[in-house]
Amino acid sequence: MNNTHVAVNSLQEYDGKEVALAGWLYNSRGSGKIQFLIIRDGTGLCQCVVEKGKVPDELFGELRHLGQESSLTVTGTVRADERSVGGYELAVTNAQIVSASDGYPITPKSHGVDFLLKHRHLHLRSQRQWCIGRVRHTIVDAIRRFFNDNGFVLIDTPIFTTIVGEDQQSLFEVDYFGTPLHLTQTGQLYVESAAMSYGKVYCFGPTFRAEKSKTRRHLTEFWMVEPEVAFTDLDGLLELAENFVSFIVSQVLINNRSDLDTIGADTTTLETIKPPFYRLTYTEVGSILRGEKAKVFQAEQLRQLQDERQQLEDKIAEFEAEQQAGQLKQWKKDKIAAELIELRGALAEVNTRIENNPKHAQLAAEFQWGEDLGGSDETIISQMHDKPVFVTHYPKQAKAFYMKTDTENEKVVLNFDLLAPAGFGEIIGGSVREDDYDRLLERIKDQGLNPETYEWYLDLRKYGSVPHGGFGLGVERTVAWITGEKHIRQCIPFPRMMDKVYI
Ligand code: 4AD
Ligand code: MG
Repeated sequence: MNNTHVAVNSLQEYDGKEVALAGWLYNSRGSGKIQFLIIRDGTGLCQCVVEKGKVPDELFGELRHLGQESSLTVTGTVRADERSVGGYELAVTNAQIVSASDGYPITPKSHGVDFLLKHRHLHLRSQRQWCIGRVRHTIVDAIRRFFNDNGFVLIDTPIFTTIVGEDQQSLFEVDYFGTPLHLTQTGQLYVESAAMSYGKVYCFGPTFRAEKSKTRRHLTEFWMVEPEVAFTDLDGLLELAENFVSFIVSQVLINNRSDLDTIGADTTTLETIKPPFYRLTYTEVGSILRGEKAKVFQAEQLRQLQDERQQLEDKIAEFEAEQQAGQLKQWKKDKIAAELIELRGALAEVNTRIENNPKHAQLAAEFQWGEDLGGSDETIISQMHDKPVFVTHYPKQAKAFYMKTDTENEKVVLNFDLLAPAGFGEIIGGSVREDDYDRLLERIKDQGLNPETYEWYLDLRKYGSVPHGGFGLGVERTVAWITGEKHIRQCIPFPRMMDKVYI
């Protein structure tokens, strides 16, 4: 092995030429005379055609029986072929097996979630996970690029901390040489200090929350980027957030079309993600939830879900009949089994949504001004909109101590959540910060926090306080929204969830 092998995603540059590929055997099928090896090399998939007589007989035999995920190099001539994955295939003239693999546990037959999480180290090689990982890479790159190109300075904030950033219930305590500390819930308070030094800053790193919720939107360890800006107001923050999110989406559309297509993401909706986004106040959201429009909307959703359920049930019945008809080739049996697992998963999903629909409708109708929006409320509002929605001006009592009170309405704070469309829900939370010393101190005390711990944070309000604010965007939520992935655990290479850490 040396650097003479080429990458699968550059094969179009070598049409008609002889090249070597280095990778792993993703899939293999064939007859006695010809074997099709699908090889993945980390940049893409390539069909490699091995014909008996064109390679030594012994090698043909070895390749024919080579197990899934064996590593190998292959040499051959590149030729364009529309039917091939990636549009090019390799007519193999030689090959070398680097390390044979036998009994690879993840087969093309589908597996359950638990099994796959236990085999996450291997599951990362599967097509869907591979695509999601590439989209995540683009998103992380776009995040850094956006801030770096717009005059923000990167500030690395600590992971061990004394402060409670968001809520006291979700702290991970650590024994720091005998002193109890906890893992950071947010870098915000630290970037606020840095904003008074550099003007525009951001931190970007892992964040920890001992969330006691086993939802598809919560991890206990997730990545968050948090910009913070001196001399800004709520409108300034909303504008920054919508430009930022639109930039991220545009970068994914430029760099990951084929990944999005492979995993069946909805690129048509992504194309429309451009400023301005919708802007609603919390109070307006409350009237929508309680009103007729939401009721009608929920009823229509229910009808659509019931139709969807019928279609899924019909398809499942069709496949089951085929399965029972017998005398199927092994590949066909595997294919049907895989389809059935997919379909049954989708059916379970639809059934849950059907079950939840009336509960969610009821929760919405019973909306009480003063409480934070529930996950289901967010889902309804974001389902009712085709573009992201900013929800602003939440009740003070429902929100963190650092949010600035609206001087025009003391009951609310100058904050916002950004809800991604199509039912996805919150991807950003942010606010203008309380910049008045006395008000901030009062809020700290009100929430039962120890003012001594926050002395340094209060200092910022003593020495040249300015109106400022920022927000936090969750990387995994963003990946899930953009890829259409239902569960956030698929959007980070090694997920940490409340109920289990697998590997
Ligand atoms: O709304 P949150 O809690 O806001 C903050 O932490 C602020 N200090 C940010 C700031 O103003 N600088 O969290 C921000 C985002 C959420 O919108 C969500 O995308 C993500 O972080 N997030 C989670 N992602 C996965 N799992 C969890 N348990 C998450 N909690 C929050
Ligand atoms: Mg939030």
